[in-house]
Amino acid sequence: MLASASDIVRLSLHVVAATIWVGGQLTLAALVPALRAAGADVPRAAARAFNRIAWPAFAVLLVTGGWNIAATRDDDHGAWHVTLIVKMVVVVLSGVTAFLHARARTRAGLAVFGALTGVTALAALVLGIALAG
Ligand code: HEM
Repeated sequence: MLASASDIVRLSLHVVAATIWVGGQLTLAALVPALRAAGADVPRAAARAFNRIAWPAFAVLLVTGGWNIAATRDDDHGAWHVTLIVKMVVVVLSGVTAFLHARARTRAGLAVFGALTGVTALAALVLGIALAG
């Protein structure tokens, strides 16, 4: 059975925003050595440019996440409900650690919060796939 038009819009927006938030973080992390080689200030400039699309994408995830819950309310029981709550905690952690990463001024702060935001973003993606199953 084909998805309805509104499901296509809802899930496309959610998944495109997830590719930016999650995929963008992982790609930027992989590019850091090359960016550093291009100049000491280049990684920070690239991170600032990424933040201009990452935070709007995060906002889209929150809005379409709420839409997802409204659209899939029938599934809202048992393991699905627990998974959703765990996902929400992980999403908040991903946002908070991304914010702290952007404000970090020490190498240790950048590394710890960068790793935490990447891992929690990836966990939110995996939990989302579990919810959609
Ligand atoms: C870092 C933030 C987030 C990421 C990376 C993310 C990622 C995903 C992914 C990849 C899916 C699977 C889509 C599919 O395969 O069809 C999904 C589904 C879902 N997400 Fe998220 N999501 C995020 C935030 C949120 C938030 C904030 C909420 C709730 C407020 C939410 C609620 C849901 C629900 C209920 C589904 C199941 C949708 C369905 O079955 O139609 N997500 N998410």
